[in-house]
Amino acid sequence: MEKQQLRSQNWFGKKGKDGFIYRAWMKNQGIPPDMFDGRPVIGICNTWSELTPCNGHFRELAEAVKKGVLEAGGFPVEFPVMSLGETLIKPTAMLYRNLVSMDVEESIRANPIDGVVLLCGCDKTTPSLVMGACSVNIPTLVISGGPMLKGHWKGRDIGTSDIWRFDADNKMGKITPQEFVDSEACMARTQGHCAVMGTASTMAVMVEALGLSLPDNASIPAADARRKVLSQLSGRRIVEMVKEDMTLSKILTRAAFENAIMVNAAIGGSTNFVIHLLAIAGRIGIDLDINDFDQFSQGIPLLANIQPSGENYMEDLYYSGGLPALIKEMSSLIHNEALTVNGKTIGENCASTEVYNRNIISTLKEPFKQESGILVVKGNLAPDGAVIKPSAASPELLKHSGKAVVFENIEDYHARIDDPELDIDANSIMVLKNVGPKGYPGMAEVGNMTLPKKLLLEGVTDMVRISDGRMSGTGFGTVVLHVSPEAAVGGPLALVKNGDIITLDAYKRILQLEVTEEELAIRRAAWKLTEKMQSRGYVHLYQTHVEQAHLGADMDFLKGSSGSKVTRDSH
Ligand code: FES
Repeated sequence: MEKQQLRSQNWFGKKGKDGFIYRAWMKNQGIPPDMFDGRPVIGICNTWSELTPCNGHFRELAEAVKKGVLEAGGFPVEFPVMSLGETLIKPTAMLYRNLVSMDVEESIRANPIDGVVLLCGCDKTTPSLVMGACSVNIPTLVISGGPMLKGHWKGRDIGTSDIWRFDADNKMGKITPQEFVDSEACMARTQGHCAVMGTASTMAVMVEALGLSLPDNASIPAADARRKVLSQLSGRRIVEMVKEDMTLSKILTRAAFENAIMVNAAIGGSTNFVIHLLAIAGRIGIDLDINDFDQFSQGIPLLANIQPSGENYMEDLYYSGGLPALIKEMSSLIHNEALTVNGKTIGENCASTEVYNRNIISTLKEPFKQESGILVVKGNLAPDGAVIKPSAASPELLKHSGKAVVFENIEDYHARIDDPELDIDANSIMVLKNVGPKGYPGMAEVGNMTLPKKLLLEGVTDMVRISDGRMSGTGFGTVVLHVSPEAAVGGPLALVKNGDIITLDAYKRILQLEVTEEELAIRRAAWKLTEKMQSRGYVHLYQTHVEQAHLGADMDFLKGSSGSKVTRDSH
């Protein structure tokens, strides 16, 4: 590509006053003149923040990327965007995913950037950055922060999924409150994101399966020196991608999305995958539908023995051959010809890999579990669909009818769940309303409600739970999520009453409220919105424009791309 064709030259290549201004204030950072000679300018979009502990090592990764960019003859420029730390942000990081995507999109377009490296880690930092970059569509490469090393406590390995177990054990007096606190530091003991196949790991797998990262991006631990090497190599590669004009839309084809769905099934990925992949597809203009997740998961067994669907951790996946070795096991199923950022196809990237531990990566013939993927259930309770992850559910509950025990919102749940008088038994179905995109707002990760203490004490470990919210990717149980339309827009979930019979038949994809249409019509006529809608600020914008879960919960006006062209161009 000719130097003058680079978009950065519309800034740094200018003569006269404008060019003076564009260059002079960069030079105050100690940048020599030859950096403005028409070489590719590579943005490093950094989500480092001390409030996003999973991304706390990203300054080091950015330095490694810079080295690579310089080695390849590029000009690296690091810039921050809003960072979403899953553990601290309230009411939920998901509320801000779309906001960050706007930050990323506008930051890339507005600046002299020819190619961009996205540093992604904690859950929402991946989809928000990829969504924003898709709406600009310049050459883009993703580096994930990598998983933490597994935790150790009292002689056993632990990870994020244990929080739910420890919480239940603490409630039942199986561990002391002090032991509960002591386990904290033993769990999160190194840099990196959650070590299980939670949403962050799922997103890291997603970008690798989509072809947006170099091979092995998903599983190299954050603390492993090879994470820095991958970052440096990514820095070198993005410069070449700019020269090849390898934009996102050349990689993110329909085949790449289908690959990502199949790989997600094989690794037992988070249900959050659905909502994020739909939103990414909407930005890049690929026609993806919630039913595709069910269809392309069909016949894909669980190959990865990683928590919460299995027993192990992301580092074990890496030591066993990594994601490329797992994808090679699926070579008879996936689109091997799909292009990836290194210029090779996904099939070529995986061809020479080997599996070193069959307890971590199984074969298609003898999979770790037959149940896998994401099932999409529908019925009069979820006309537009709801999702369930069978590999994290109790098989005997995947077909179940029970009496609804209804919580009108999360506060109602917290107030009554441990009331000894609560009329609930192991066969009941817990229903939580108003935790969807508009209702919460931001679709909170509260769908895997902790069971009532009195049932935990009886030894009950799982019950069917239904909500319009999400579940942490580290969570587990027979949990029906993302019910669409949500209660806060008057979806049928809003009409459920205590004692109604609900039937879940995941095998037949059914979620049915056993109440007559006449009765539902009466309830619908009497329904009133109980949740508060905000009248100002970003939350108002979000509640006004967010779409329902089955569409990816993006905001209606953000779908698609505005390209990389700036609209006005002068000082
Ligand atoms: Fe950041 Fe789990 S809390 S990845």
